[in-house]
Amino acid sequence: MAKLEILHYPDKRLRTVAEPIAAVDHSIRSLVDDMFETMYAAPGIGLAATQVNVHKRVIVMDLSAEKNEPQCFINPEITKSEGLEQTEEGCLSVPDIFETVERAERVVVKALDKDGKEITLEADGLLAVCIQHEMDHLLGNLFVDYLSPLKQMRVKKKIQKARRQAAII
Ligand code: NI
Repeated sequence: MAKLEILHYPDKRLRTVAEPIAAVDHSIRSLVDDMFETMYAAPGIGLAATQVNVHKRVIVMDLSAEKNEPQCFINPEITKSEGLEQTEEGCLSVPDIFETVERAERVVVKALDKDGKEITLEADGLLAVCIQHEMDHLLGNLFVDYLSPLKQMRVKKKIQKARRQAAII
């Protein structure tokens, strides 16, 4: 296993649209392992392959307090979504920014698991939010895209300022 580098907004590579996976083989399982290691080390609750500059449709997450319930979705598709809810979100690719985003309250997601087996999952609450957030990454979208232009400008300024300070120290 290896920890991978996480791309940070506004890196243009985060805008790449991921390709579907033709076969869940050894290289994909190895990618999934590396993504879990990277996500746990960050630490974060979810990660999309796009964020580690691999443009394939793979997302991983673990919402458990003990970090012992890894969930992986390969070629995820939302087949049903209903309701609306607002949640404060953050993202490993947009450090230290937390903003409220509106998403579907419940989703049904169809995907392949790590063994290439088809799974269907009904999700609500944080799991539903996390699935939608990670699937957005696969399309090159970020949660900050949902903010008003004014708020997006503030986010960009805050990130640039933090980067300048980091460079001075
Ligand atoms: Ni994210």
